[in-house]
Amino acid sequence: MTVTSSQIQPSESQCVPRHVAIIMDGNGRWARGRGRPRTMGHRAGVDAVRRTIEASCHLGIEYLTLYGFSTENWKRPETEVSDLMGLLRLFLKKELATLHKNGIKIRIIGDRTRFADDIRDLLAKAEAQTRENTRLNLTIALSYGARAEITDAMREIAAKVATGELSPSDISEDLIEQHLSTAGIPDPDLLIRTSGEQRISNFLLWQSAYTEFVFEDVLWPDFDRSHLEQAIDNFAGRERRFGAVI
Ligand code: IPE
Ligand code: IPE
Ligand code: MG
Repeated sequence: MTVTSSQIQPSESQCVPRHVAIIMDGNGRWARGRGRPRTMGHRAGVDAVRRTIEASCHLGIEYLTLYGFSTENWKRPETEVSDLMGLLRLFLKKELATLHKNGIKIRIIGDRTRFADDIRDLLAKAEAQTRENTRLNLTIALSYGARAEITDAMREIAAKVATGELSPSDISEDLIEQHLSTAGIPDPDLLIRTSGEQRISNFLLWQSAYTEFVFEDVLWPDFDRSHLEQAIDNFAGRERRFGAVI
């Protein structure tokens, strides 16, 4: 990433969504189209991650949430999972200093108990080092599944009810929200999925209740600022009603 603090300017547009979430899909197809192994697609996907973080800073997006690896992705062949872990390790080691310098606050959501110890340490370090940053809130969903997240929240709440810390009548939407891994993060305004697939694949089920969806045909490794701007333009033309009459 080459962006410097002085280059980062909030967007002039009034229509930039506060929170953009992205399902980064299509790495495998990108590689297949070039006759290359899937891992080449994942490697190229990391460059698109860098570009997207940089573009989000330039556009004045406050929250960017990236779906990097789902709970279900553990079902992939061992070699692919291990390649992805290698890329994650490399990304965290190589990019943390630059992300920190650029004022990016990193938060990880998902089940990190499934990661190797050294990756868990790198994730904790990334969060700790960038905790005070305020330019862009970058949330990376890793080993994340929304159903697992909601299940965990329910278990925690049930335990509090069992000990008497909470009563059933205390359970509200706000309370549930506070027990999700995204506690404190506003709901996504815009969700982009690349690669032409039109499904949510167990991402942010609770949080996306009133999110606007944009599906783009571009494969993730080809995603750049123009695709992000296209999605934002599309979003700007939507009429959000939240169930009310406008
Ligand atoms: C997204 O690309 C990356 C991850 C899910 C880790 P895919 O690997 O799903 O690529 P396709 O969908 O097979 O093309
Ligand atoms: C969703 O993509 C998960 C990520 C992008 C990390 P998948 O490629 O795993 O989703 P499906 O299997 O096509 O639904
Ligand atoms: Mg996919």
